[in-house]
Amino acid sequence: MDQNEKKYRVARAALAFVPANAIVGVGTGSTANFFIDALGEQRANIRGAVASSEASAARLRALGITLFDLNEAGELPIYVDGADETTRERCLIKGGGGALTREKIVAAASRQFVCVVDDSKLVAQLGRFPLPVEVIPLARAQVARALTQLGGRPVLRAGFVTDNGNQILDVHDLIISAPGALETQINQLVGVVTNGLFANRPADVVLMSTPHGVERF
Ligand code: A5P
Repeated sequence: MDQNEKKYRVARAALAFVPANAIVGVGTGSTANFFIDALGEQRANIRGAVASSEASAARLRALGITLFDLNEAGELPIYVDGADETTRERCLIKGGGGALTREKIVAAASRQFVCVVDDSKLVAQLGRFPLPVEVIPLARAQVARALTQLGGRPVLRAGFVTDNGNQILDVHDLIISAPGALETQINQLVGVVTNGLFANRPADVVLMSTPHGVERF
């Protein structure tokens, strides 16, 4: 089974978690896109969606799904999104697509975060995937120096601007043995908007596509 087939299957499995008449929080990326397409077929059964990026908003809109501003939608029953890495404890690295800040906001506003991945994303310890850190452009160099002191090797994501008008440092070589503590520590650096660790608020459910079906943990 190829990776797209796995993404397609796990995205459809997430539909079972969507309550009737819900406003659904929707993530960003190729797996989230499969979920959006599946949600399009169910649009009569939901009120609409809150998107975590301009790209997802455009895809939802094209399928005729009503978009809500998070400030008007209030607390959401569910958020569905992919991840770049997950542990069995459901701690994640996200932000490969650069949408980490809005993703973290919508996840925080949701009662249940259902993360949809294929089995290539499962790791014993986070950090093989470079950790994305969104920074205010003015602070980029000083944040990079601080991340280097933490043992990382920050690399500016060239030619990329986030939906919030900021830049991304992708931090290689970090040893992430305590993801919650590192998430907090990086968030304390002045000029950091968000980092891609989802550990203090991990996923509530991970659905993982394998050749043998969708596993839940
Ligand atoms: C977007 O910023 C990311 O957090 C994505 O959720 C993550 O990169 C997973 O994307 P794929 O489903 O495309 O692998």
